[in-house]
Amino acid sequence: MTISSLAERLREAQHVVVFTGAGASAESGIPTFRDALSGLWDKFDPAHLATPEAFRADPSLSWGWYEWRRLKVIQAQPNGAHLAIAELAKHVPKLTVVTQNVDDLHERAGSQDVIHLHGSLHSPRCIDCGRAHTLPLPSDALPEGGCRIEPPRCTVCNGYVRPGVVWFGEMLPEGSWSVGLAAAERCDVFLSIGTSGIVYPAAELPLRALGQGATVVHVNPVRFDVSSQEHFLEGPASVMMQTLLHEAFSDHPVS
Ligand code: APR
Repeated sequence: MTISSLAERLREAQHVVVFTGAGASAESGIPTFRDALSGLWDKFDPAHLATPEAFRADPSLSWGWYEWRRLKVIQAQPNGAHLAIAELAKHVPKLTVVTQNVDDLHERAGSQDVIHLHGSLHSPRCIDCGRAHTLPLPSDALPEGGCRIEPPRCTVCNGYVRPGVVWFGEMLPEGSWSVGLAAAERCDVFLSIGTSGIVYPAAELPLRALGQGATVVHVNPVRFDVSSQEHFLEGPASVMMQTLLHEAFSDHPVS
């Protein structure tokens, strides 16, 4: 599918779903989930570090990693992809953003009601009683390579505070999943941006959209196999999304 034919589909669309993975935040300087880890964690597989077992085994190592990531997000800015996605919402009747990312760059770009399938770095909670915990800004003085940080304690039950992300082996937040799935099953265009599409159940969403007849487009600089009914825009998210938005709506100013 060419950019111009996809632009035509977007102009006709009643409901667009934008589904993002770590690649959507890559151009903001946020390492993708499967980028090799650096510093203190360079010997760890992120898939092992992002687990309840890793946290319980070494809370300070785990919490230090999440605080390092949270500081990176706070220091980052939304990129052209986040901004184009936020702008797209002004041109289509309904746009649903469903992200696997735990950063808040979609929100900071102006997207509303973002669905976080894998939680957020900004919503820590007590690992025992579940009470939400308010975090101060992480110290700017965190070493670039990261460090161990003792997790804070719950002010009510004194349990450890854990990151508000979905770890491997944990269930997705029920509400987020059902809203994301309903959007995939109703949309007419599904843009899958910057995801390797290997982690389920999130990776099921493009397939559900395809199954009900939506136009499914993958945006990624690294081409991977997709079915003959799916489309692929090979390139970085910021360039592809800005180009697509311009092609679709540049002479259709927001009414
Ligand atoms: N623009 C678009 N895509 C990009 C860019 C870019 N500038 N740079 C990298 N990518 C692509 C990579 O080619 C890769 O396909 O982003 C994808 C990132 O893949 P992963 O690192 O696997 O991240 P993601 O797909 O989001 O992982 C899904 O798995 O581990 C869990 O919870 C974690 O949310 C994460 C989920």
